[in-house]
Amino acid sequence: MRVALMILLGLVIGSIGTANVMNVLSERNPMPKAVMHTMGYHMGELTGAIKVNQCDAVKIQRHLARLESTATDITPVFGMDDKDFTDHANQLRDHLRQAVQAAPTTCAALAAAIKLVNDSCKSCHQKYR
Ligand code: HEC
Repeated sequence: MRVALMILLGLVIGSIGTANVMNVLSERNPMPKAVMHTMGYHMGELTGAIKVNQCDAVKIQRHLARLESTATDITPVFGMDDKDFTDHANQLRDHLRQAVQAAPTTCAALAAAIKLVNDSCKSCHQKYR
């Protein structure tokens, strides 16, 4: 009984320790979250513009360009040596390049352009977040 309790205690302490180490590591490297929050901000601005039906072509293009360039930071910053993760990141970049090239000037065109982008965000989050 006592041995079982000690093992249990060891496991609890071990997992608390692991959680702390993980927190410290993520605080030391804020970049992965910073990249994600930056993309989240620009996606939020775009979907917000669609909601209030105010799609200014110049602003849209700026947000899309910022998304495209920020997405190039995902792979180096996350430091994930995983082909599937990289594929997800590349797919997002492809869709962003297409959206930038489409240069939408109306809310309807913007909605169509960011649909695939949004799908790319979601599919990676489902697997890795
Ligand atoms: C290649 C994979 C991948 C793609 C593509 C991706 N994300 Fe993420 N995202 C992640 C992972 C992994 C996390 C969890 C990060 C963490 O908790 O450290 C995350 C977390 C986030 C978060 C929460 C950050 C936090 O502090 O918890 C936001 C916001 C976000 N992503 C926005 C986006 C948006 C917007 C897109 C698309 C434009 C996107 N992401 C595309 C992998 C991805």
